[in-house]
This record gives sequence, C-alpha cells and structure tokens, in this order.
Amino acid sequence: MNVLGIDIGGSGVKGAIVDIESGKLLSEKIRFPTPNKPTPKKIFDGIKINILDELKWDGNVGCGFPGVVKKNKIYSAANIEKKWIGLNLKKKFHKKFNLRCKAINDADAAGLSEIALNPDVVKRGTVLVITVGTGLGTSMFTDGKLIPNFELGHLKMYGDCAEKYASNLARKKLNLSWKEWSARFNEYIDYVELLFSPNQIVFGGGISKYFNEFESNLTSKCEIIPAKNRNNAGIIGAATCFK
Ligand code: BGC
Repeated sequence: MNVLGIDIGGSGVKGAIVDIESGKLLSEKIRFPTPNKPTPKKIFDGIKINILDELKWDGNVGCGFPGVVKKNKIYSAANIEKKWIGLNLKKKFHKKFNLRCKAINDADAAGLSEIALNPDVVKRGTVLVITVGTGLGTSMFTDGKLIPNFELGHLKMYGDCAEKYASNLARKKLNLSWKEWSARFNEYIDYVELLFSPNQIVFGGGISKYFNEFESNLTSKCEIIPAKNRNNAGIIGAATCFK
C-alpha cells in the first residue's frame, strides 16, 4: 500500500509517498521550511500547496508531529506554536482535505521505521532511538514493541531541558564544533544510560547524515548505530502507521 508520509518538524516540514511494505520512497522528498510562528493554519496551508498539490495526492496520510500524540490528538508542543495543543490531526485532515490521516509522535515514527527495517535491532531488547534536530526526540522499544511518547529530550540538565543543551539547534546557535557538541551529547547519553540502560541506541534526525564526522567522539556503554533511513526515517515511519 502507498501512503503519504509527512514529518512536521521545528525547522522543516517534509513529505513523500512511501511504499509501506518495503519502506521505499516512491516520490521525490518535498521539504518546505517551517514558517515563523508555525500555527496550524500556516503549516496546513504549506502542506496543501507544497506537498498535496505538488504530489497530486488524495490517498491516506501518516503524519509525525513533534509533541506528545495520543489517538491522533496533540498534547504538547515544545518547539512549535502552543496552538497545536488539543488539535486532532485525524479530524483536521478529514475536515480540511477530506483525507484519512493517522498521526503519531515524530520520534516514535522515526523509531518505528528503523525497527521495521532492521530485524537485528529488534533482537537487542531495550532499544532507544534518538533523533537529533531542533529538539531531542526519543522513542523506546522493548523487543521491537514501542512504548509511545517517551519524552527523554525533556530530562532536566543544567536547570533546563536536555534538548536545549544537546540538540542540533543548540549546536548551531552556539556555533559548536563537532567535538564540543559531541561532549554535550555524551553527557546526555550518560544520563539517559544511568536511568534506562538501553542495550542499543539508534542515532537519527537531521544531523545523522554527518554521523561519520562525530562517531569517534561518541562514548556510551552500549553500541550507537546511525539510523538506516537517516533523515527519511520520520516520513517512512509516519506512513507505516497504516500497516
Ligand atoms: C518534543 C518531542 C519530539 C522532539 C523532536 C521535543 O521537544 O517534546 O515530542 O519528539 O522534540 O521533535
């Protein structure tokens, strides 16, 4: 089955048609920058013009959102306008575009696509997927089963959220070298390992394409591997909601 996967993020909104059996993208990946003050209206207008119209799509949509999502309804919005809280993405897609939509947290989506495409990861027991972008997204799996809405980017470090300290946005804002940023990320990983002892960590999100640049700086008790789908994991995983 083909499904349009959409990944709403703090710096960009991405979409592509996905074959949910193979996890392959069947269209070009479209990305438009997240507008300033990203209200639902602005994002939905952008999705319509840039993604739905461009891909001439009128089928099912799987949507990843950067906040807690339960039964398609949004419960938190740390890096995006608070107006999203309370909105039901399934209802909204139906009302606005007459399309069937299923929505989940963006990091859960990325994690699901990694687990689906990597049977070896499933065998590792407790696996933590971390997406490093505007925020720090985390999804936790036990023997391949997702524990949804695991918000470990919001652990407290130095009096604020860990994602303020170790995300890619923090790296860019402070103009940190890979070495400097990796040192921060290692502190974060130490903290997470102390609390949750995962057997494996899968590293995804915007900067996973540069994984080679900082891989040798990363220290963790368990093995850290880059996401197979790199930055497409969110789109693919969102689409696989329909599996
Ligand atoms: C949100 C998470 C999200 C992560 C990555 C965090 O600020 O609370 O739900 O997965 O950012 O987008």
